[in-house]
Amino acid sequence: MTQPVRSVIDILDLSPEELDRLMDTAEDIIARPERYREACRYKKLAALFFEPSTRTRLSFEAAMHELGGAVLSVTDAAASSAAKGESVADTAKTVSCYADIIAMRHPKEGAALVAARNASIPVINAGDGGHCHPTQTLADLLTIRREKGRLSNLTVGLCGDLKFGRTVHSLINALSRYEGLNFVLISPEELKLPSYVKNDALKARGIPYSQTTDLEAVIGNLDILYMTRVQRERFFNEEDYLRLKDSYILTPEKLKKARPDLSVMHPLPRVNEISVAVDDDPRACYFKQVLNGKYMRMALILMLLNLQPA
Ligand code: CP
Repeated sequence: MTQPVRSVIDILDLSPEELDRLMDTAEDIIARPERYREACRYKKLAALFFEPSTRTRLSFEAAMHELGGAVLSVTDAAASSAAKGESVADTAKTVSCYADIIAMRHPKEGAALVAARNASIPVINAGDGGHCHPTQTLADLLTIRREKGRLSNLTVGLCGDLKFGRTVHSLINALSRYEGLNFVLISPEELKLPSYVKNDALKARGIPYSQTTDLEAVIGNLDILYMTRVQRERFFNEEDYLRLKDSYILTPEKLKKARPDLSVMHPLPRVNEISVAVDDDPRACYFKQVLNGKYMRMALILMLLNLQPA
């Protein structure tokens, strides 16, 4: 019997039980990679990236290669027919003729949803504008579970660009479904978390949160500090970007006030917001997130293609 086509556009498209299963699969891939080497044989992933990426695109490509599949890529919107005015809907219909699954990054919010509505194969949102980035959240969740041994009863500080930071929006939505979470939202006034995320994910669920502009005042209370980049590409005005870009710079000095078991996370790329000197601190987890992202994307591809390892 043919399985229905399923896409992942928002992290809330996956139930907490499915997230657990994906993390368990990722752990099994880490422990027994040889079981998965042929799992996607004869399958093709189309990586459609209409916005720059290093980690997400390459980790999707590495994931498909490690599953024994093949990859078709658009790495530059200007070199695709989008530059001639082709719609996202037509692109999705076209790529459905060539590939078995799509990972799409696009600068416009909602583009991946449009693709999913028009494709006849699963679509994974690899980041749509300032909206959401569910597979980064998969990487984040596995990292938190591996570092802390749990996804509940955590005080999570999110720092930087909370307005346009799609990774932050997806992570709050995901974590808001676990017990005992407390969020500390650290940002300049101009880059506060949008009301729609605050209302839907936090207020509607009665989840405690506080807002501050002062990282150093709260760093000692945190189990996790999730730093983010102020994103030049989301600003309409260069002056505003220049004024806000270095609002927060995490240094070894500032980390002296933090708990010894703090986990410092960042979706990357970073610019200035974490000093390179922090990389040697055992609390720095951001390159672990990068690797975990590949395993979670492998697990997600398998799930959406209804494939099992050998
Ligand atoms: N975290 C992340 O999405 O990185 P890239 O923009 O390099 O894909």
